Amino acid sequence: MTDDGIIVDAFTELAPGYEETMDREIRSVWGLSYDQFVERLIEAASLDESEVNAVLDVATGTAFIPRKLAEKAGANSRIVGLDITQAMLEHGQKMVETAGSSSRIQLVCASAMAMPFADGFFDVVICGLGTHHMDVPRMLSEMRRVTKTGGTLVIAEAGPAPLWRSFLGSALLRILLFIYRLRYMSAVRVQAEQEAFLNLHTAAEWRTMLSGFGFADIDVVEFRAHRPWYPCALVMKAVT
Ligand SMILES: C[S@@+](CC[C@H](N)C(=O)[O-])C[C@H]1O[C@@H](n2cnc3c(N)ncnc32)[C@H](O)[C@@H]1O
Repeated sequence: MTDDGIIVDAFTELAPGYEETMDREIRSVWGLSYDQFVERLIEAASLDESEVNAVLDVATGTAFIPRKLAEKAGANSRIVGLDITQAMLEHGQKMVETAGSSSRIQLVCASAMAMPFADGFFDVVICGLGTHHMDVPRMLSEMRRVTKTGGTLVIAEAGPAPLWRSFLGSALLRILLFIYRLRYMSAVRVQAEQEAFLNLHTAAEWRTMLSGFGFADIDVVEFRAHRPWYPCALVMKAVT
């Protein structure tokens, strides 16, 4: 796994331009805006506006997902965004305040490997594009612990293109990452992303892991990228 210090350095550097970077990268890989991508994730969570929900967004970054959730969830719902990078949360906090949502969104700086929440506290747990930086089994164990019985988990993540699992495909992936580094990325982000690209899981692997951690009714939707060597997008939904 990538060292947490490298991740924090990478996202501290990226924080001021994070949302623009995400929008550009998601458009180039999946042909969707960042906003549309997050809409799909939130749609999968099927939040009912009439219900009061405690929602957790793991690896919340600049709290884009909580801000969108605040528009969809019931007015009395409470949303917590957790992230390991303080600088991402500081940018997020400013935008939460600008959106007038600070009474509903709380941002917490902590690792998803040991979340500072009671067992079964959340009705809905969400994570968008954060799992590839983490020890996924440990993260799932924590997600399972903090989700109440009957609660919902929704994860949106990139998945490996089938090509990457071959020897030639893995070499091609490294070349693409190198080109990407030359075009867009700072060196520290490359370090954070290179290992993360090797920590992507297929739909079948997600099903196995989710069921191994006691999640049921697992549904995985896959969106293909427009080039066969780009990662696909996966949206996983399951209940506890
Ligand atoms: C690509 S961003 C995703 C942010 C946000 N979910 C979104 O969709 O825009 C990945 C985030 O994961 C966070 N992260 C990485 N490892 C983490 C960990 N162990 N615990 C909590 N957050 C972590 C990083 O700090 C970063 O903000």
